[in-house]
Amino acid sequence: MSSSRVIYFGPGPSALPEDVLEQTSKALFNFNDTGIGIAEVSHRSKDFQTYITHCEALIREQLHVPPTHKILFTQGGGSGQFSAVVLNMLARHRLLHPNLDDDDRTMDYVITGSWSNAAADEAKRLGGAKFHVAVDARTYSKDGKFDNIPPHAVYNFSPDPALIYYCENETVNGVQFAKDENSPASFPFHLLPKDKLLPLVGDYSSSFMSRRIPRLADHAIIYAGAQKNLGPAGLTIVIVRQDCLVDVDAAARYGATPVPVTMSYKTLSDKGSLFNTPPVLAIYMAGLVLERNKKLGGVEYYEDLNQKKADKVYGALREGEKRGIFRSLVNIGSGSMMNIVFEVLGEGAEAKFLAEAENRGLKGLKGHRSVYSMPLQRCADYGYRSLGGTMQAFDAGNCLTLSLTGIRVSLYNAITEDQTSKLVSYMKWFIVGEGRQ
Ligand SMILES: Cc1ncc(COP(=O)(O)O)c(C=O)c1O
Repeated sequence: MSSSRVIYFGPGPSALPEDVLEQTSKALFNFNDTGIGIAEVSHRSKDFQTYITHCEALIREQLHVPPTHKILFTQGGGSGQFSAVVLNMLARHRLLHPNLDDDDRTMDYVITGSWSNAAADEAKRLGGAKFHVAVDARTYSKDGKFDNIPPHAVYNFSPDPALIYYCENETVNGVQFAKDENSPASFPFHLLPKDKLLPLVGDYSSSFMSRRIPRLADHAIIYAGAQKNLGPAGLTIVIVRQDCLVDVDAAARYGATPVPVTMSYKTLSDKGSLFNTPPVLAIYMAGLVLERNKKLGGVEYYEDLNQKKADKVYGALREGEKRGIFRSLVNIGSGSMMNIVFEVLGEGAEAKFLAEAENRGLKGLKGHRSVYSMPLQRCADYGYRSLGGTMQAFDAGNCLTLSLTGIRVSLYNAITEDQTSKLVSYMKWFIVGEGRQ
């Protein structure tokens, strides 16, 4: 490792493999022996077109994407897809059922954390169909928080929705659907409407390429921002089943909301992801990461490695919990393999934990700052109890506004087992007391 670099556990943008950074720095001067740098080369050049086709093939091969699905490279991040999935899937539904009123179309949302909640807010904002909560994990938390994957029995899907939306890994809250379908925390595929062409949409932004995608072929859309496991920010990958590549202008003529042309999946697909200038540099770097993944053994290799890394960190977390030093922010069984969130208990303890971690070159561990408004009674039940720790109250009235902090360890693909062990040794050192003196 270059001596100026630290171990960076940031949630995204996040660490990238050093050999990829080195190769990129060379390609910035000369891409593919063209004598032109990768940030300068035309996206319409033969070299780049060959490269983007190669990247697509690498994703297809490693994730076992069937020919029924196209792979698109676009921009706008996960947030751009919050809008694009709604607009494209409502256009599709309009073409399938042109005579339905908007009130008779539904959009089903599975809300398990901040990102699916943000996507749900965008769906409500765009309108065009009745918004339906298939499940909201906060209802099944004793503290009204996103700390769990709800049990299968409580999901309630509509019979023929325009889309069914979920986020596989909630980056902020650290909850993730279990990969084992027999687990009570798995996504309840068996409860979905019996439709061969399910309108199922999955946000895989923070788990893409970290492990296999269960039932990929049953999804209408899977999307991911690249900036966690795949490359730098600026690139968004969309895997879309071909029946969802619809003529959005025809749908608009039947009354659907017009879709901005850069968000139309059909336009992107028809133009081979080159309708307009794509993020050339980000695609190049993602390609290097994908080639590297392939050499190492693909997504199966990362699945094993990431499981080992997560087991180590959860092991130290449980040890700290037993001794009253740490408290997990997620129920057992619902925890993410990629983002592990917990509190350090005691006055000023979190700041101490972070400061010594920084001293040791372990960075990017500070949790996401979210602001929650809770009714006073709830605060009395939960918030006050934590004020000495990492919840701070900074407003009064009928409601207290609380800022939740805590620690978040992001264990994306580029974090090695050895780097994980360094963090785990530090956590153990902190648990036994030396760090808290
Ligand atoms: C799971 C998930 N979805 C969506 C987003 C939003 O992505 P972006 O910032 O690229 O819009 C993020 C960002 O971290 C995320 O982690």
